[in-house]
Amino acid sequence: MSGLPLWPDQASAYAREVDWLIGSFGVLVTLLAAPVFVLMLLFMLRYRKGRRADRSPPEDRNVWLETSWSVIPFLLVLCFFFWATRMFLIERNPPADAMTIAVVAKQWMWKYQHPEGAREINDLHVPAGTPVRLTMTSQDVIHSLYVPALRIKQDVLPRQYTQLWFNADRPGVYPIRCAEYCGTDHSEMIGRLIVQRPQDYARWLAASDTDAGLAEQGKRLFVRYGCSGCHGPSSPVHAPKLDGLYGSVVGLEGGRVTRADAQYIHDSIVLPNKDVTAGYAPIMPPYGNLIGEDEVVPLVAYIKSLGPRREGP
Ligand code: CUA
Repeated sequence: MSGLPLWPDQASAYAREVDWLIGSFGVLVTLLAAPVFVLMLLFMLRYRKGRRADRSPPEDRNVWLETSWSVIPFLLVLCFFFWATRMFLIERNPPADAMTIAVVAKQWMWKYQHPEGAREINDLHVPAGTPVRLTMTSQDVIHSLYVPALRIKQDVLPRQYTQLWFNADRPGVYPIRCAEYCGTDHSEMIGRLIVQRPQDYARWLAASDTDAGLAEQGKRLFVRYGCSGCHGPSSPVHAPKLDGLYGSVVGLEGGRVTRADAQYIHDSIVLPNKDVTAGYAPIMPPYGNLIGEDEVVPLVAYIKSLGPRREGP
């Protein structure tokens, strides 16, 4: 199908399967609908006004025939329901070993941050044959990341993380689009997905201008924005310690509990007084207006790197 002009490239096994799903469903629907229209035409001609045809009701009804033309199409369509559900579940659940790239959308560009620290705008380099998870959020309004060649699309929301994943297996350059109207230059919010052979990707990564990984960048921001003044190990301020926070269960003011995942840590930086940790005063200033989402990303990566809480001494 990729030979058709106007049809997007297929850059992953998932994309090829989506095309098979849609193509074969199209064939099935045509096969099911065609006899209806053929018979309509025949009956229009046969029983048209002025035509002397036998219009008396038929004497015998064939219950098996009438049942089968409902049940057989139903079962055939049901197969597609299970096929499509399976694909939906695959697309919703990234593999655990996927490489994570952070995406921050803003009017009107895409910003990407690689775990090794490389940053890019609009163009996204990824290695072929590697599962890649995009963790996405928006600096302003709702956007939607759309890669036609991968047959994937997901809304990108302010103050919330959404994700997408893919495993592009064909090196090449594929368009990235914004699929949610987001203002004047929505149509200019375009980028390129550059799928490279792993060795080329490694070379690109090595050549990119970074001196520190994402977590290391977060550590520097942690000091620069004064976070360490309160959350540091020897701080006199009564603030929650962050060592081992990530992934642990946190008790909140009011008796509720939550798990310290990326969303929780993001919210605690941006809107700290929404959910205050039990036993602490709501004294942390909200950083949502002071720092951008692209700085929250390395901060979250840094806190994540402090690791899960270890039990015992
Ligand atoms: Cu961003 Cu449309």
